[in-house]
Parts: sequence; C-alpha cells; structure tokens
Amino acid sequence: MTKKILLSDGEIPRQWYNAAVDIPGGLNPPLDPVSKQPMGPEKLAPIFPMGLLAQEMSDQRFIDIPQEVLDIYAIWRTTPLVRATNLEKALGTKSKIFFKNESVSPVGSHKANSAVPQAFFNMKEGVKRLSTETGAGQWGCALSFATSKFGLECKVYMVRVSFEQKPYRKSMIQTYGATVIPSPSTDTKAGRDILAEFPDTPGSLGIAISEAVEDAFSRQDTKYALGSVLNHVCVHQSVIGLEAKRQLAMAGETADVIIGCCGGGSNFAGLAAPFLPDYLEGKKIRFIGVEPASCPTLTMGKLAYDYGDVAQSTPLLYMYTLGHGFIPPGIHAGGLRYHGMAPMVSAMVRENIVEPLKVQQLECFEAGVLFARAEGIIPAPETCHAIRAAIIEATRDLKKEQTILFNFSGHGLLDMSSYDKYFAGELHDYDYSEAELTRSLAGLPKI
Ligand SMILES: Cc1ncc(COP(=O)(O)O)c(C=O)c1O
Repeated sequence: MTKKILLSDGEIPRQWYNAAVDIPGGLNPPLDPVSKQPMGPEKLAPIFPMGLLAQEMSDQRFIDIPQEVLDIYAIWRTTPLVRATNLEKALGTKSKIFFKNESVSPVGSHKANSAVPQAFFNMKEGVKRLSTETGAGQWGCALSFATSKFGLECKVYMVRVSFEQKPYRKSMIQTYGATVIPSPSTDTKAGRDILAEFPDTPGSLGIAISEAVEDAFSRQDTKYALGSVLNHVCVHQSVIGLEAKRQLAMAGETADVIIGCCGGGSNFAGLAAPFLPDYLEGKKIRFIGVEPASCPTLTMGKLAYDYGDVAQSTPLLYMYTLGHGFIPPGIHAGGLRYHGMAPMVSAMVRENIVEPLKVQQLECFEAGVLFARAEGIIPAPETCHAIRAAIIEATRDLKKEQTILFNFSGHGLLDMSSYDKYFAGELHDYDYSEAELTRSLAGLPKI
C-alpha cells in the first residue's frame, strides 16, 4: 500500500480555480461601508493592488499563476498526500484516511500559498510596504517570508494573546525581516481607542485588521494584505485541492468526505472547492467545515452583511458572522478566532453543500495527540479541529468503508506551549452562549 502520493515539480498547478463562478446562486457583492452600495475595484484600490482586485471580482473559472509565483511555490510545492495508515489502525476503522500535508511549507502552513502571490502582485504595481494582521502568527510568518522574496517591507499587527503565547512566531517574523507588534497597539487610532476602553483586552483578529487597514490608508507607500476570508485568498489556496484531486486519482481513490478547519475559511475552501464541479455533476461528496465551539461562526452565526473588523473600516461582506464586535475567548487555536467567514464558504453553507460542525477544544487536542503518536507530525491547534472531525467520521461506524480526506493545514511545532497547557489540565471547553450571540449580533449594520 502506498503511504505517500507525490507529484513532481512540473505538476504544480499552473492555474488557480475560482469557485465563485460555480457556486449555485453566486456570491453577493461587497458593499461600501459608508454608502452601503455595491463596491467596484476602484474604491478598494487604495488598499489592494489591481492585480488582486481583478482576482477578487473575477468571472473566470481558472486564473493563470504567474511564473514568478510558481518559482517560489517550487520551494515546497507540490505537497504530499499521505494515507494516515497508522491513525486508521489506532482507530480500528475500515475507512481510508488521507491528509494533504500543507505543513511542509517553509513557514509550516498553507498560508504561504496566498502570501507569495499577494506580495508578488503588490511588488509588480510598485508597492513598497505591506501591513497585515496575524492571529496565530502563521499568516504573519507567511507574509514576512513572501515580502522578503520580493524586497518589500512588512509590518505585522499580532493579536496580543498570541504575541504572548507564541514568542517564536515573533522571532520567525523578525528573521524574515518584518516588524511585529502586539495588537491593540498605540501605533494606530483604532488600537488606542480599544486600549482606552479595554486596557486588558486579549485582542482579536477584528481589532488587528482595523489597525493594519488604518496603517495602509495612512501611508502612500503601503497596501494591506489579508490572510483569509477574501475570494482571492481562497482562489490562491485552490492549489491544495487541485493537487489533492490528482493525487487521489493516482491512488485510484475518490473522496467521500472532505474536511477542513475553518477560521476565515481559506484552507477549507482551498482543499474543498476544486471538488465542487464533481459534486455539482452528481458525485456524492460530503464537505465538512469544522470550527471551535467557542467561535461558532457557521453553526450559530447569522448570514448577513457585516464589517470585517471592529472599527468598521472594511467593506461589508455577505457572510456568516457573529458580529464584528465579537471578542472571542483566548482559545489556543488563535487562527480560528474570527467573527466572520469567507463569502465563498458562507455561500457553500447557504446552499447546503458544506456541513458546518463545531467541536470543543479538549477533544481537538486529544485528537492532535493521537495523530502525533500515530503519524509522527504534531498538528497546529487549528489543524487538530480537522483531525477531530476526521476521527468522528472514521469511527461513527467502524465497519463502513469510506475515503476521508482532510487538510493538514499546519504543524504545531511553535504551539507547544498550548500542548503544555493541555497536558497540565489548564485548558477548558467553552460554549458560546445564546445571550452573548444576541448581544454581538445586535451591532450588525442595517442593510
Ligand atoms: C495552521 C492553520 N490552520 C488553519 C487556520 C485557519 O485559517 P483559514 O480558515 O483561513 O484557513 C490558520 C490560521 O491562522 C492556521 O494557522
């Protein structure tokens, strides 16, 4: 039995897949935060380069990947598709479990797949500096790596709780030559306003985004980069699913269940969306998007227009949301702590193509430890959510033979303090309450 299904360098996809074209019912356009009218690319041009805006609003099913991006992808792509035979044995399941190992990128996660083209298209249009936010630190590392390849400066606003929990992510960002500070910070008005009201806040992605967007608006030489949520990010991540489809075919398999964890939705969309045409042609595939019970955007949130950030400076996106004012508890899967969800993933949930699933923190760490002991790789806490869902599927009926594919979005080698806390019994489960939900949804803009 083949353990790893590998593709050669020459088999890196040459085009990204844009699922927005194929999702039944389509996507609703972004709205201007002030006029509440649909927003064209020219309004977004102060913070994003036209090359990325063209992808954001593209009506093309496939988009060419520039050679300069392919050359950098070649550092780690293609990534292996691995059969988790030892995990299957440990579970006693008849199901086959495959994982797409995105942890082999230089920064340890899928985030580099979008960071490289984002830095490239900015560089091509003469941008000198990028600002961004990071939750778990994975995106900040990825963008710092990518900007170092194209000679751009980079400033990273890192959610304070992660800044404190993950010192080595800071070191990585600095090693690639970028600047990183904890958010909320005193460098921006958005940060100062939050600190004045909540001096002890753990921070949130919504706050860090406000800071990074303000930074980009306030300087001529700077644009903003977002690590998830937006269409162009999900499009870049499609290399994951495009490769996985080929690799499964080489193994003579078709996926019955496809699983990814959902923060802003990009790694899940990247793996799942390229299988959408097969689903629409009638293939029986279940897509499962997994999120933490403490930040249950898809399972408890509302499908509505909302801001992407706390300061209400971003366009309004039509997405599942817990309300832009939502400040989640400091769970250790920092990358899953976002109030919104990619419009692309939201539309697939709306159409009942994707099943959302919420899981608790402790069961995820338990799954991650089991996986590490079986397959050897220590998963990032975010990735543990996908593993937990794969285990639920594989053990629901041990005799059922199904092929399960999940995205191994990142390794956890810089998340060991979270594992330490898990082993010390210091982590807890957390359910987001209806009362909290009602409070945070009350701030949704009236459209
Ligand atoms: C390893 C890992 N997986 C998943 C995510 C979630 O992000 P997304 O939903 O955009 O893939 C993150 C975010 O930081 C991450 O670091």
